[in-house]
Amino acid sequence: MRITVCLTDNRPDPWIEGLRAALPEAEVENWAPGAAPADHAVVWSPPQALLDDQPGLRGMFNIGAGVDALLKLKVPPQTRVVRLDDAGMSVQMAEYVCHFLIRHFREFDAYEAEGRAGRWSYRKPRERKDFTVGVMGLGVLGERVAKAIGQFEFPVNGWSRSAKSIDGLRCFSGESEFDAFLGASRVLVNLLPLTPATRGILNRETLSKLNGGQPGGYLINVARGAHLVDADLIPLLDSGQLAGATLDVFEVEPLAADHPFWRHPKITVTPHGSARTEREASIAQIASKIRAMEQGEPIAGVVDVTRGY
Ligand code: NAP
Ligand code: GLV
Repeated sequence: MRITVCLTDNRPDPWIEGLRAALPEAEVENWAPGAAPADHAVVWSPPQALLDDQPGLRGMFNIGAGVDALLKLKVPPQTRVVRLDDAGMSVQMAEYVCHFLIRHFREFDAYEAEGRAGRWSYRKPRERKDFTVGVMGLGVLGERVAKAIGQFEFPVNGWSRSAKSIDGLRCFSGESEFDAFLGASRVLVNLLPLTPATRGILNRETLSKLNGGQPGGYLINVARGAHLVDADLIPLLDSGQLAGATLDVFEVEPLAADHPFWRHPKITVTPHGSARTEREASIAQIASKIRAMEQGEPIAGVVDVTRGY
Protein backbone atom coordinates (compact mmCIF):
# COMPACT_ATOMS: atom_id res chain seq x y z
CA MET A 1 0.00 0.00 0.00
CA ARG A 2 1.29 3.46 -0.88
CA ILE A 3 0.35 6.68 0.93
CA THR A 4 1.17 10.12 -0.39
CA VAL A 5 1.32 13.13 1.94
CA CYS A 6 0.52 16.65 0.71
CA LEU A 7 0.27 19.23 3.51
CA THR A 8 0.20 22.86 2.43
CA ASP A 9 1.41 25.12 5.30
CA ASN A 10 2.46 22.15 7.46
CA ARG A 11 5.81 20.42 7.85
CA PRO A 12 5.33 16.98 6.27
CA ASP A 13 8.24 15.15 7.96
CA PRO A 14 6.67 14.43 11.37
CA TRP A 15 3.50 13.24 9.65
CA ILE A 16 5.43 10.97 7.32
CA GLU A 17 7.45 9.52 10.21
CA GLY A 18 4.32 9.04 12.32
CA LEU A 19 2.39 7.35 9.49
CA ARG A 20 5.35 5.06 8.74
CA ALA A 21 5.46 4.05 12.40
CA ALA A 22 1.68 3.49 12.60
CA LEU A 23 1.45 1.64 9.25
CA PRO A 24 4.77 -0.22 8.81
CA GLU A 25 3.26 -2.19 5.92
CA ALA A 26 2.80 1.03 3.89
CA GLU A 27 5.17 3.07 1.78
CA VAL A 28 4.67 6.68 2.87
CA GLU A 29 6.19 9.52 0.85
CA ASN A 30 5.79 13.25 0.46
CA TRP A 31 3.87 14.03 -2.74
CA ALA A 32 5.68 15.60 -5.69
CA PRO A 33 4.32 15.88 -9.26
CA GLY A 34 4.89 12.62 -11.11
CA ALA A 35 5.05 10.51 -7.93
CA ALA A 36 4.12 6.81 -8.19
CA PRO A 37 0.36 6.11 -7.95
CA ALA A 38 -0.79 5.98 -4.31
CA ASP A 39 -3.77 4.27 -2.68
CA HIS A 40 -4.44 6.98 -0.12
CA ALA A 41 -3.48 10.61 0.42
CA VAL A 42 -3.12 12.51 3.69
CA VAL A 43 -3.76 16.15 2.92
CA TRP A 44 -4.31 19.69 4.02
CA SER A 45 -5.45 22.19 1.38
CA PRO A 46 -3.81 20.30 -1.50
CA PRO A 47 -3.56 21.67 -5.05
CA GLN A 48 -5.69 20.28 -7.91
CA ALA A 49 -2.41 18.97 -9.32
CA LEU A 50 -2.39 16.25 -6.63
CA LEU A 51 -5.70 14.84 -7.86
CA ASP A 52 -4.80 15.24 -11.51
CA ASP A 53 -1.62 13.33 -10.79
CA GLN A 54 -3.28 10.68 -8.55
CA PRO A 55 -6.62 9.79 -10.16
CA GLY A 56 -6.69 6.34 -8.52
CA LEU A 57 -6.78 7.43 -4.86
CA ARG A 58 -9.27 5.41 -2.81
CA GLY A 59 -9.10 7.63 0.26
CA MET A 60 -8.17 11.25 0.83
CA PHE A 61 -7.69 11.93 4.56
CA ASN A 62 -7.94 15.55 5.65
CA ILE A 63 -5.85 16.52 8.69
CA GLY A 64 -8.60 18.88 9.82
CA ALA A 65 -12.36 18.85 10.39
CA GLY A 66 -13.34 21.35 7.69
CA VAL A 67 -13.13 20.07 4.11
CA ASP A 68 -14.08 23.27 2.25
CA ALA A 69 -10.58 23.66 0.75
CA LEU A 70 -10.71 20.05 -0.50
CA LEU A 71 -14.17 20.27 -2.01
CA LYS A 72 -13.08 23.19 -4.20
CA LEU A 73 -11.12 20.57 -6.16
CA LYS A 74 -12.38 18.10 -8.73
CA VAL A 75 -12.37 14.93 -6.65
CA PRO A 76 -12.65 11.66 -8.64
CA PRO A 77 -15.92 9.83 -7.81
CA GLN A 78 -14.18 6.76 -6.36
CA THR A 79 -12.03 8.80 -3.95
CA ARG A 80 -13.58 8.90 -0.50
CA VAL A 81 -12.94 12.20 1.30
CA VAL A 82 -12.51 11.63 5.01
CA ARG A 83 -12.48 14.36 7.65
CA LEU A 84 -10.75 14.28 11.01
CA ASP A 85 -13.31 13.17 13.55
CA ASP A 86 -12.65 15.18 16.72
CA ALA A 87 -9.19 13.72 17.53
CA GLY A 88 -8.83 16.17 20.43
CA MET A 89 -10.44 19.17 18.72
CA SER A 90 -13.83 19.34 20.40
CA VAL A 91 -12.44 19.83 23.91
CA GLN A 92 -10.22 22.66 22.64
CA MET A 93 -13.17 24.27 20.90
CA ALA A 94 -15.25 23.99 24.07
CA GLU A 95 -12.47 25.67 26.10
CA TYR A 96 -12.11 28.46 23.58
CA VAL A 97 -15.80 29.27 23.22
CA CYS A 98 -16.52 29.05 26.96
CA HIS A 99 -13.51 31.29 27.67
CA PHE A 100 -14.64 34.07 25.33
CA LEU A 101 -18.31 33.71 26.26
CA ILE A 102 -17.53 34.03 29.97
CA ARG A 103 -15.01 36.82 29.41
CA HIS A 104 -17.78 38.78 27.68
CA PHE A 105 -20.61 37.85 30.07
CA ARG A 106 -18.60 38.59 33.23
CA GLU A 107 -17.07 41.75 31.70
CA PHE A 108 -13.55 40.62 32.55
CA ASP A 109 -12.04 43.09 30.05
CA ALA A 110 -13.61 45.97 31.95
CA TYR A 111 -12.37 44.54 35.27
CA GLU A 112 -8.89 44.21 33.84
CA ALA A 113 -8.90 47.85 32.70
CA GLU A 114 -10.15 48.99 36.12
CA GLY A 115 -7.53 46.85 37.83
CA ARG A 116 -4.73 48.33 35.75
CA ALA A 117 -5.93 51.78 36.76
CA GLY A 118 -5.77 50.67 40.42
CA ARG A 119 -9.53 50.97 40.90
CA TRP A 120 -11.50 48.59 43.18
CA SER A 121 -14.91 48.78 41.55
CA TYR A 122 -17.79 46.36 41.04
CA ARG A 123 -20.04 46.10 38.04
CA LYS A 124 -23.68 45.16 38.31
CA PRO A 125 -23.87 41.37 37.87
CA ARG A 126 -25.56 40.25 34.68
CA GLU A 127 -27.96 37.34 34.53
CA ARG A 128 -27.40 34.17 32.52
CA LYS A 129 -31.05 34.07 31.55
CA ASP A 130 -30.40 37.26 29.51
CA PHE A 131 -27.48 35.66 27.67
CA THR A 132 -28.94 32.78 25.70
CA VAL A 133 -26.24 31.30 23.50
CA GLY A 134 -27.08 30.08 19.99
CA VAL A 135 -24.75 27.49 18.47
CA MET A 136 -24.91 27.27 14.67
CA GLY A 137 -23.96 23.73 13.66
CA LEU A 138 -24.54 20.76 15.97
CA GLY A 139 -21.98 18.40 14.52
CA VAL A 140 -18.88 16.91 16.10
CA LEU A 141 -17.73 20.28 17.46
CA GLY A 142 -20.98 22.20 17.83
CA GLU A 143 -22.72 19.64 20.02
CA ARG A 144 -19.73 19.37 22.35
CA VAL A 145 -19.49 23.16 22.59
CA ALA A 146 -23.22 23.54 23.23
CA LYS A 147 -23.06 20.98 26.05
CA ALA A 148 -20.02 22.68 27.61
CA ILE A 149 -21.83 26.05 27.59
CA GLY A 150 -24.83 24.35 29.21
CA GLN A 151 -22.55 23.19 32.05
CA PHE A 152 -22.19 26.89 32.98
CA GLU A 153 -25.98 27.12 33.09
CA PHE A 154 -26.44 29.46 30.16
CA PRO A 155 -29.62 28.77 28.21
CA VAL A 156 -28.48 27.20 24.91
CA ASN A 157 -30.10 27.06 21.48
CA GLY A 158 -28.76 24.98 18.61
CA TRP A 159 -29.36 25.17 14.88
CA SER A 160 -28.65 22.43 12.37
CA ARG A 161 -29.77 21.33 8.93
CA SER A 162 -31.71 18.26 10.08
CA ALA A 163 -34.04 18.28 13.09
CA LYS A 164 -32.44 17.11 16.35
CA SER A 165 -33.36 16.49 19.94
CA ILE A 166 -30.45 16.98 22.35
CA ASP A 167 -30.79 17.06 26.13
CA GLY A 168 -30.41 20.55 27.58
CA LEU A 169 -30.66 22.31 24.20
CA ARG A 170 -33.51 24.05 22.46
CA CYS A 171 -33.03 22.76 18.93
CA PHE A 172 -33.96 24.60 15.74
CA SER A 173 -33.40 23.33 12.23
CA GLY A 174 -33.48 24.35 8.62
CA GLU A 175 -33.99 27.71 6.95
CA SER A 176 -37.58 27.95 8.17
CA GLU A 177 -36.45 28.09 11.82
CA PHE A 178 -33.36 30.21 11.33
CA ASP A 179 -34.95 33.56 12.18
CA ALA A 180 -36.59 32.15 15.31
CA PHE A 181 -33.21 30.71 16.36
CA LEU A 182 -31.44 34.05 15.84
CA GLY A 183 -34.14 36.04 17.61
CA ALA A 184 -33.98 33.72 20.63
CA SER A 185 -30.15 33.93 20.90
CA ARG A 186 -28.00 36.76 22.23
CA VAL A 187 -24.54 35.28 21.82
CA LEU A 188 -24.00 33.53 18.48
CA VAL A 189 -21.34 30.84 18.09
CA ASN A 190 -20.66 29.74 14.52
CA LEU A 191 -19.63 26.11 14.01
CA LEU A 192 -21.06 25.47 10.56
CA PRO A 193 -19.07 23.98 7.70
CA LEU A 194 -18.38 26.37 4.82
CA THR A 195 -20.68 25.34 1.96
CA PRO A 196 -22.56 27.27 -0.74
CA ALA A 197 -25.54 27.38 1.67
CA THR A 198 -23.56 28.87 4.57
CA ARG A 199 -21.13 31.28 2.85
CA GLY A 200 -21.88 34.84 4.02
CA ILE A 201 -24.49 33.63 6.54
CA LEU A 202 -23.18 36.06 9.18
CA ASN A 203 -24.23 39.39 7.70
CA ARG A 204 -25.96 42.67 8.53
CA GLU A 205 -29.43 41.18 8.20
CA THR A 206 -28.88 37.98 10.18
CA LEU A 207 -26.71 39.52 12.91
CA SER A 208 -29.29 42.29 13.43
CA LYS A 209 -31.86 39.64 14.34
CA LEU A 210 -29.94 38.45 17.40
CA ASN A 211 -31.45 39.13 20.81
CA GLY A 212 -34.91 39.72 19.34
CA GLY A 213 -33.47 42.58 17.27
CA GLN A 214 -32.40 44.44 20.44
CA PRO A 215 -28.83 45.79 20.74
CA GLY A 216 -26.30 43.72 22.68
CA GLY A 217 -25.68 40.64 20.55
CA TYR A 218 -22.21 39.07 20.55
CA LEU A 219 -20.54 36.97 17.84
CA ILE A 220 -17.98 34.18 18.23
CA ASN A 221 -16.87 32.91 14.79
CA VAL A 222 -14.70 29.81 15.01
CA ALA A 223 -15.72 28.08 11.77
CA ARG A 224 -14.56 29.83 8.59
CA GLY A 225 -13.88 33.48 7.73
CA ALA A 226 -16.05 33.35 4.61
CA HIS A 227 -19.14 32.76 6.77
CA LEU A 228 -18.89 36.43 7.76
CA VAL A 229 -19.45 39.40 5.47
CA ASP A 230 -16.52 41.44 6.82
CA ALA A 231 -17.86 44.81 5.68
CA ASP A 232 -21.07 44.31 7.70
CA LEU A 233 -19.45 43.68 11.06
CA ILE A 234 -17.85 47.01 11.97
CA PRO A 235 -21.00 49.14 11.34
CA LEU A 236 -22.98 46.77 13.60
CA LEU A 237 -20.36 47.15 16.35
CA ASP A 238 -20.05 50.92 15.94
CA SER A 239 -23.81 51.42 16.12
CA GLY A 240 -23.98 49.29 19.29
CA GLN A 241 -26.25 46.69 17.68
CA LEU A 242 -23.52 44.19 18.46
CA ALA A 243 -21.60 44.49 21.74
CA GLY A 244 -18.53 42.68 20.44
CA ALA A 245 -17.05 39.85 18.43
CA THR A 246 -14.38 37.20 18.84
CA LEU A 247 -12.99 36.04 15.51
CA ASP A 248 -10.65 33.09 15.06
CA VAL A 249 -11.03 32.66 11.30
CA PHE A 250 -10.79 35.04 8.35
CA GLU A 251 -11.55 35.02 4.66
CA VAL A 252 -7.86 35.64 3.94
CA GLU A 253 -5.39 34.13 6.39
CA PRO A 254 -3.12 35.31 7.85
CA LEU A 255 -5.25 38.40 8.46
CA ALA A 256 -3.53 41.35 6.73
CA ALA A 257 -1.57 43.58 9.12
CA ASP A 258 -3.65 46.62 8.13
CA HIS A 259 -7.03 44.88 8.46
CA PRO A 260 -9.34 47.01 10.68
CA PHE A 261 -10.38 43.95 12.73
CA TRP A 262 -7.01 43.93 14.51
CA ARG A 263 -7.46 47.34 16.07
CA HIS A 264 -11.22 47.57 16.60
CA PRO A 265 -11.83 47.92 20.36
CA LYS A 266 -14.82 45.54 20.30
CA ILE A 267 -13.12 42.78 18.30
CA THR A 268 -10.81 40.09 19.63
CA VAL A 269 -8.70 38.39 16.95
CA THR A 270 -6.99 35.03 17.40
CA PRO A 271 -4.94 33.33 14.65
CA HIS A 272 -7.11 30.34 13.66
CA GLY A 273 -6.09 28.34 16.70
CA SER A 274 -9.32 27.68 18.56
CA ALA A 275 -8.97 23.93 17.88
CA ARG A 276 -5.59 22.82 16.53
CA THR A 277 -4.94 19.48 14.90
CA GLU A 278 -3.24 17.19 17.43
CA ARG A 279 -0.73 15.32 15.34
CA GLU A 280 -0.36 12.09 17.35
CA ALA A 281 -4.10 11.56 17.83
CA SER A 282 -4.74 12.43 14.20
CA ILE A 283 -2.14 10.02 12.85
CA ALA A 284 -3.56 7.25 15.03
CA GLN A 285 -7.08 7.98 13.78
CA ILE A 286 -6.09 8.18 10.11
CA ALA A 287 -3.97 5.01 10.33
CA SER A 288 -6.81 3.04 11.89
CA LYS A 289 -9.24 4.29 9.23
CA ILE A 290 -6.85 3.34 6.43
CA ARG A 291 -6.52 -0.15 7.94
CA ALA A 292 -10.31 -0.46 8.25
CA MET A 293 -10.81 0.70 4.66
CA GLU A 294 -8.24 -1.76 3.41
CA GLN A 295 -10.21 -4.51 5.18
CA GLY A 296 -13.48 -3.31 3.67
CA GLU A 297 -14.86 -2.14 7.01
CA PRO A 298 -16.99 1.00 7.40
CA ILE A 299 -15.31 4.13 8.77
CA ALA A 300 -16.61 7.30 10.43
CA GLY A 301 -16.08 10.77 9.01
CA VAL A 302 -16.66 10.09 5.31
CA VAL A 303 -17.72 13.38 3.76
CA ASP A 304 -20.88 13.64 1.69
CA VAL A 305 -19.36 15.50 -1.24
CA THR A 306 -22.72 16.63 -2.66
CA ARG A 307 -23.82 18.04 0.73
CA GLY A 308 -20.43 19.72 1.21
CA TYR A 309 -19.53 18.44 4.69
P1 NAP B 1 -19.77 18.69 11.27
O1 NAP B 1 -19.59 17.57 12.23
O2 NAP B 1 -19.75 18.40 9.81
O3 NAP B 1 -21.13 19.42 11.66
C1 NAP B 1 -21.69 20.41 10.86
C2 NAP B 1 -23.00 20.88 11.48
O4 NAP B 1 -23.48 21.98 10.71
C3 NAP B 1 -24.09 19.80 11.45
O5 NAP B 1 -24.87 19.86 12.61
C4 NAP B 1 -24.95 20.22 10.24
O6 NAP B 1 -26.31 19.86 10.33
C5 NAP B 1 -24.84 21.73 10.33
N1 NAP B 1 -25.10 22.35 9.01
C6 NAP B 1 -24.46 22.16 7.84
N2 NAP B 1 -25.02 22.89 6.87
C7 NAP B 1 -26.07 23.54 7.42
C8 NAP B 1 -27.04 24.43 6.92
N3 NAP B 1 -27.07 24.80 5.64
N4 NAP B 1 -27.95 24.90 7.79
C9 NAP B 1 -27.96 24.52 9.09
N5 NAP B 1 -27.04 23.67 9.63
C10 NAP B 1 -26.11 23.20 8.80
O7 NAP B 1 -18.67 19.80 11.51
P2 NAP B 1 -17.71 20.02 12.80
O8 NAP B 1 -16.70 18.95 12.89
O9 NAP B 1 -18.56 20.26 13.99
O10 NAP B 1 -16.92 21.33 12.36
C11 NAP B 1 -17.59 22.52 11.98
C12 NAP B 1 -16.62 23.46 11.29
O11 NAP B 1 -15.72 24.01 12.24
C13 NAP B 1 -15.69 22.82 10.26
O12 NAP B 1 -16.33 22.63 9.02
C14 NAP B 1 -14.57 23.83 10.17
O13 NAP B 1 -14.85 24.79 9.18
C15 NAP B 1 -14.59 24.51 11.54
N6 NAP B 1 -13.37 24.25 12.34
C16 NAP B 1 -12.62 25.30 12.75
C17 NAP B 1 -11.51 25.07 13.53
C18 NAP B 1 -10.69 26.23 14.06
O14 NAP B 1 -9.61 26.01 14.59
N7 NAP B 1 -11.15 27.44 13.96
C19 NAP B 1 -11.15 23.77 13.87
C20 NAP B 1 -11.92 22.72 13.42
C21 NAP B 1 -13.05 22.97 12.65
P3 NAP B 1 -26.77 18.31 10.37
O15 NAP B 1 -26.34 17.82 11.73
O16 NAP B 1 -28.23 18.38 10.23
O17 NAP B 1 -26.04 17.63 9.25
C1 GLV C 1 -9.46 23.70 11.12
O1 GLV C 1 -9.85 24.78 10.82
C2 GLV C 1 -10.11 22.49 10.74
O2 GLV C 1 -11.01 22.53 9.90
O3 GLV C 1 -9.74 21.45 11.28
